[in-house]
Amino acid sequence: MSQTVLVTGAAGFIGSHVGERLLDLGYQVVGLDNFDDSYEPQIKRDNIQHLTSNEHYTLIEGDIRDRTLLHGLFTKYTFDNVIHLAAKAGVRPSIIQPQLYEEVNVQGTINLLEESRLTSVERFIFTSSSSVYGNSTRVPFKEDQQIATPMSPYAASKATAELYCYTYHHLYELPMVIIRPFNIYGPRQRPGMAIPLFTRKLNSGEEIQLFGDGSATRDHTHINDFLDGLLTALTYEGCQFDIFNLGNSRPISLDYLVQLIEESLGKKAKIKHLPVQPGDVPVTFADISKAQTILGYQPKIAIEQGIPLFIEWYRNSQPSESYIY
Ligand SMILES: NC(=O)c1ccc[n+]([C@@H]2O[C@H](COP(=O)([O-])OP(=O)(O)OC[C@H]3O[C@@H](n4cnc5c(N)ncnc54)[C@H](O)[C@@H]3O)[C@@H](O)[C@H]2O)c1
Repeated sequence: MSQTVLVTGAAGFIGSHVGERLLDLGYQVVGLDNFDDSYEPQIKRDNIQHLTSNEHYTLIEGDIRDRTLLHGLFTKYTFDNVIHLAAKAGVRPSIIQPQLYEEVNVQGTINLLEESRLTSVERFIFTSSSSVYGNSTRVPFKEDQQIATPMSPYAASKATAELYCYTYHHLYELPMVIIRPFNIYGPRQRPGMAIPLFTRKLNSGEEIQLFGDGSATRDHTHINDFLDGLLTALTYEGCQFDIFNLGNSRPISLDYLVQLIEESLGKKAKIKHLPVQPGDVPVTFADISKAQTILGYQPKIAIEQGIPLFIEWYRNSQPSESYIY
């Protein structure tokens, strides 16, 4: 019998790709998403339209803060694994709505942990964030370093949820994997993130606002590489409690990112520099040696290949008329 996986945040950027991969691998998938308005909900419906027609995929529209709904779900289905992606994502909005980030990212995670330990889930994968490393000057970031200086409520909520994951592993021996993704990009990426936002603005001749002088660096990681690591984390042997960075391990500057998008689109950017935003960090840079050793993880798509692939998708995708991608 094939295994059943609960994927939370199933209609989002990463969740829609995870659902696709799981179906390809022969899993039964139950996707949970509340289609919140962090960006246009129609984009999320479009993200998973091709999955919901699959007989092995069930979509549940609901909220991870709703304990009654979760209890019903864990009673109705036997989940072998949980891949927990649902979250309020994004650093800057978290400064405006810190309570909401805590409710969804911390309390929502506890609700899932509680149901998972009651039903003896075989493995719980929690998607944390590279932002837990704060503005650490020790680069590349390594899983065993301190994460006690989060720079935003978003980072604080992810670091707190990680602590609860450890506690549930400790108390109930719930096998646990914490993934720290580093700037994942690719088709269906959240529209407000740098790569889709710059692409859209540059393409339409609008001005791009760059926070800082352009020297801040990010370790952009292609979604296909990320998925290779995440799906291996679901099955590697001997899992008890592990934390893995999944990054590209080659940070590039914001200036270089804009240059790559310009080259791919064949257009020149109009740039306006603004001050660095509160909560932003100067660098993200993953040490991936642990994932390489245990998961055999090896990113294959350099940013110089990944940006043209993204632009190709952007040009070919036909978003709903109801929103501007
Ligand atoms: N994309 C990245 O670069 C990146 C980097 C670090 C961490 N992450 C983490 O990976 C996960 C997925 O990120 P993404 O980029 O796909 O974001 P996303 O916003 O596209 O996906 C998150 C999904 O969760 C859903 N959701 C939000 N609140 C919910 C709730 N209360 N109940 C049920 N569903 C809810 C949203 O509707 C959305 O579809 C998040 O946990 C995010 O913090 C992403």
